Amino acid sequence: MQTELLPVTPESLARAGSLIRAGALVAFPTETVYGLGANALDADAVGRIFAAKGRPGDNPLIVHISAPDQLPPLIASDPSPAAKALMAACWPGPMTLIFPKSPAVPEAVTAGLSTVAVRYPGHPSARALIDAARRPIAAPSANRSGRPSPTTARHVMEDMEGRIPLILDGGPCAVGLESTVIDVTGDTPRVLRPGGVTPERIAEICGGVAVDDAVLRPLKAGERPRSPGMKYRHYAPTGALTIVRGEPDAVIDRIRRLYDDALEAGSRPLILALEGHIPAYGDRRALSLGPDAAAMAHAIFARLRDADALNADAIFSEATDATGVGLAVMNRLERAAGFHVVEV
Ligand code: TXA
Ligand code: MG
Repeated sequence: MQTELLPVTPESLARAGSLIRAGALVAFPTETVYGLGANALDADAVGRIFAAKGRPGDNPLIVHISAPDQLPPLIASDPSPAAKALMAACWPGPMTLIFPKSPAVPEAVTAGLSTVAVRYPGHPSARALIDAARRPIAAPSANRSGRPSPTTARHVMEDMEGRIPLILDGGPCAVGLESTVIDVTGDTPRVLRPGGVTPERIAEICGGVAVDDAVLRPLKAGERPRSPGMKYRHYAPTGALTIVRGEPDAVIDRIRRLYDDALEAGSRPLILALEGHIPAYGDRRALSLGPDAAAMAHAIFARLRDADALNADAIFSEATDATGVGLAVMNRLERAAGFHVVEV
């Protein structure tokens, strides 16, 4: 299959909309990461997403809508007061809510769960695609399973060329990390996957928040996470990634030694560091994660892909505090590292 890469125009949107209605897949930009979309109400079309990604069938998808009035047909009961408050404050935007599902949503979308994940994205091209398709769109991130999520159309091309007919290019994604996933089926909203909408912000809006304790630790043997995606080794570069955490001077000192030892042993090491620390690594090969946690959110998936492109086989990364958007950054980075963290 030829994969076309088109800028977002009225013509390409019309073409994308008819592809979706015909049961085909279209990759498209959102403010978080690129999505791989199919008609959410067509089980066969949804099956093609799992095939193109190589995604395990027990990992459910997010259904994307382009207006709040598209929500009621997808869910079984009226949203809770907390859900309504979150929707009013954060939609459209990088936030996904988990509701009891209505029978209209195929089991293929929810992987057999009784709940459905719904997002109303902020990116105008994502909403224009949903409008053009005149259907809600089921979409995971547009990477092959296990690869870092794509934040540019070129990343999507790397993973999906030959597997899908069309990629809409809307430029780089503003947030750079996937949406915050919040279970609103109970009284207190529970963060299942951290993202741009932080727990601090959710508490402000709802008066309370729980963060699932699987967010910053590996799962125990046999544990079934509330968000099935948590059980897979995600976001991973090919090279072995080690996170070094602690006071900046000690971190820099340790990473320099780890790098030099790796080089000595014949490896191809690479450092991922905060912008201000780059000079401290001298002529060692180091890439910038930007100046702060928000910049890291934006840069992290692209730098992990760069690490692969540079053929790095021993990658050493600095960390950030797991507060605010830093929680989402560390959630992705620790999974990418298989929880290999050195404390100094
Ligand atoms: O920002 C995003 O959320 C992007 C863009 C494309 O919208 N999408 C995305 O989808 O990241 P995906 O499939 O890569 O991640 C969806 C996550 C998975 O961890 C999945 O297990 C979880 O949401 N999820 C989906 N439905 C769920 C449900 N009913 N209950 C619990 N978790 C659910
Ligand atoms: Mg994903």
